[in-house]
Amino acid sequence: MVMLMLIEPAIDLVMNKAGRRTRNRHAKGGSKGGARGQAIVVLEAVLRHGRSLATALPAQLELLDASAERALMQELCYGTLRWLPRLEAVAALLLSKPLRSRDCDVYYLILLGLYQLAYMRIPAHAAVDETVVVARGLGKDWARAVVNGVLRNFQRRSDELEQQLADDTVALYAHPRWLLELIQTAWPDDWEMLVEANQQRPPMTLRVNQCQQSRQDYQIKCEAVGLVVRPHAYAGNALVLDQAVDVQRLPGFARGWSSVQDAAAQLAPGLLDLKSGQRLLDACAAPGGKSAHLLEVQPDLELVALDIDDGRLQRIADNMQRLGLAANTICGDAADPASWWDGELFDRLLIDAPCSATGVIRRHPDIKFLRQADDIAALAAMQCNILAALWPLLRPGGRMLYVTCSILPQENHEQMMAFLAGHDDAREVTIDVPWGRAMPVGRQVLSGVEAMDGFYYACIVKQT
Ligand SMILES: C[S@@+](CC[C@H](N)C(=O)[O-])C[C@H]1O[C@@H](n2cnc3c(N)ncnc32)[C@H](O)[C@@H]1O
Repeated sequence: MVMLMLIEPAIDLVMNKAGRRTRNRHAKGGSKGGARGQAIVVLEAVLRHGRSLATALPAQLELLDASAERALMQELCYGTLRWLPRLEAVAALLLSKPLRSRDCDVYYLILLGLYQLAYMRIPAHAAVDETVVVARGLGKDWARAVVNGVLRNFQRRSDELEQQLADDTVALYAHPRWLLELIQTAWPDDWEMLVEANQQRPPMTLRVNQCQQSRQDYQIKCEAVGLVVRPHAYAGNALVLDQAVDVQRLPGFARGWSSVQDAAAQLAPGLLDLKSGQRLLDACAAPGGKSAHLLEVQPDLELVALDIDDGRLQRIADNMQRLGLAANTICGDAADPASWWDGELFDRLLIDAPCSATGVIRRHPDIKFLRQADDIAALAAMQCNILAALWPLLRPGGRMLYVTCSILPQENHEQMMAFLAGHDDAREVTIDVPWGRAMPVGRQVLSGVEAMDGFYYACIVKQT
């Protein structure tokens, strides 16, 4: 049963013994509107201001004291974004006229209320009452009646509404039309499975740090603290949890025994034919998941971790420190090596390219709304520039691994076909593995299949 909260001031200030005003972390609710009120702030940050859920959520979560409230808020944000097109279609049928943009807070509260009624196990009367309580705190006299009316109408008319939306594919599959059409075109036989996978909660998967212990030993440690885990069939260091948990519950997490990383993202080392002492460039490295994995597998690599984003580069350093590893990090543009390269060729090149992230929508439902149709061509052009700029940095006989977390051919095999056509000294190495699907070039893992995110891998060698 989810704890329900009464409305509270945004930051509850009290006098402490020294007479200073401090935030009362123990006050009930601890923030405006509790979980629901804070979820409105997050939805506004994502949907109006284009911020990612991953960056908008943590600060608002911080404002909530009770772990049950934080869990509720997280569920409300992820769930509402996951089902947004359907919730919006329902809201449009139930509102007599669209709300003004300055009343987006009321609109987001309605969506949160509909999400609770349609997808959560909160008793309906409690979901309605608690949502209406938050409406009262928005400082708009009319909002309470509107929110109450929409939610009660939904309860009464849900079957009829479902019928009305039966032919509305955007509402039905909860994807924007442009994205639905792209996925349908790319995967005419699999699109339905793919969009359904995007609506699922992904598993939490761990990468066991093989420098510290074997996967089997770590599995035993997990089981000893009551976690249910299973080894992943294709990613040799991966353990899949049956339920997501706070990382603090993972044995030795702070000591670097494991990291959280999807199994599909753990396939890179096996494709790079790593050898002792090789010089490797991880060209789009932050936050360092693959860099760290490569060093866990081959600790004496000379690894250069490059990223254009200084803030994200810091996360590589933090991750490396926790894992007891070291990499040379450089802030720079992969498409402009003249600005950072020291002139020494690399034996291996890992390009985990910036992409649409259409393979990880189940983890980041906000992608469906932060991306626009014309981003895909722009991203493909960026990937093409990065590939062309970095290829000369690979020594003859060296190997390049091109990776995306996309399921779109424009960023994947079509990108690689164009690259091969434009570079006489590039030759594909067939990836001969039991996972994923062979594409005209490279291999595609489809989202949700084999407990993995959607990833694309292509291996290219430079001829001597
Ligand atoms: C898919 S993420 C990389 C994930 C990372 N390889 C890992 O496993 O943790 C793509 C990264 O590319 C970086 N990036 C985007 N454009 C870049 C560019 N022109 N040069 C270098 N890095 C870039 C982004 O900042 C982002 O961190």
